[in-house]
Amino acid sequence: MAPSLLARTLPATSRTLLRAPRTPRTPPVQARFNSDDAAVKAKLNSIAAKARVVKTLPDFSMANKVCLVTGAARGLGNEFCRAFIQSGCTSLAIVDLKEEEAEHAAEELIKAACVDSEMEPSDYRVIGVGCDVSSELSVQQAFRRVMDTYGRVDSVVASAGIVENYSAFDYPFDRIKRLYDINVHGAFFTAREAARNMIPQGGGSVVLVASMSANIVNIPQPQTPYNAAKAAVKHMAASLGVEWAKKGVRVNTLSPGYMLTKLTRTILAHDQELKKTWESLTPMGRMGEPEDLAGAIVFLASDASRFMTGAEIRVDGGYCII
Ligand SMILES: NC(=O)c1ccc[n+]([C@@H]2O[C@H](COP(=O)([O-])OP(=O)(O)OC[C@H]3O[C@@H](n4cnc5c(N)ncnc54)[C@H](O)[C@@H]3O)[C@@H](O)[C@H]2O)c1
Repeated sequence: MAPSLLARTLPATSRTLLRAPRTPRTPPVQARFNSDDAAVKAKLNSIAAKARVVKTLPDFSMANKVCLVTGAARGLGNEFCRAFIQSGCTSLAIVDLKEEEAEHAAEELIKAACVDSEMEPSDYRVIGVGCDVSSELSVQQAFRRVMDTYGRVDSVVASAGIVENYSAFDYPFDRIKRLYDINVHGAFFTAREAARNMIPQGGGSVVLVASMSANIVNIPQPQTPYNAAKAAVKHMAASLGVEWAKKGVRVNTLSPGYMLTKLTRTILAHDQELKKTWESLTPMGRMGEPEDLAGAIVFLASDASRFMTGAEIRVDGGYCII
């Protein structure tokens, strides 16, 4: 049997401890039945016990995959790492601007993964790597470190990114340039280095984190360069997906809507009313939690999406459809 077929996700208890859900979930099986019948309760308890170790479609497993995520010391990138670990990944590189923060995030991730699980810290090889994605040399050095450590890289996510809100007339050019250097060129350097290393090993999956802003114009805050940068990232993924389609490297885009992370909290800190506005513009009536992206990132990074390239998945509470 192929190693991936043996893989299963961690028990439900470990998943809960990695990150307690902050949004209401479907109530447990027992809560949906209103019966005092002891036999019914016993049956439900036995189903619940069996469900503690859930087998999922093997293609979603991240076991035996080496993953690299940029911008992963915090925010969405960090959540993507958690999702990979929860799906069986044990070899992972957390890439971020400051090496100490990346290393600290790696330690925290291992600690969380071992809580209430049969896994030991030594079962994981998670490293923190300092890298400025706007520098091609820095990205090349980060990939070299990962290749020296693991010998291969299978799934790469380019999540490092920044946003700023200036009207077009007020936006200083040096800041516009910095935004494009990180959000556009950083994604390109990451994807190109990923493909350079993946092609000789037979392929891999690259996910570029764009935004719903690649498809719509956010209101009321002005952010033209960010929106244009994210549209560039989306079309970059499509173009690279075609360029490398026959070489086994798939490139797709994940486009989140408004998610609660440091990036958005910084904007909201200056404008309490803005959150209400964003929520009212979102059909589902709320901002997303980072873990709302877990299913989509595992799908794109894993073999479950093996016939998909150049595509975009939007996870935005319905924002773009109205
Ligand atoms: N939060 C949202 O609502 C939202 C919505 C749509 C898209 N996005 C996109 O998701 C991605 C992640 O956003 P987030 O909310 O997690 O942001 P965040 O600010 O919480 O985290 C971004 C991470 O990227 C790192 N980073 C910044 N510049 C870097 C550089 N030059 N080199 C390496 N690392 C760098 C930061 O240190 C940080 O750890 C970004 O590309 C963002 O545009 C976010």
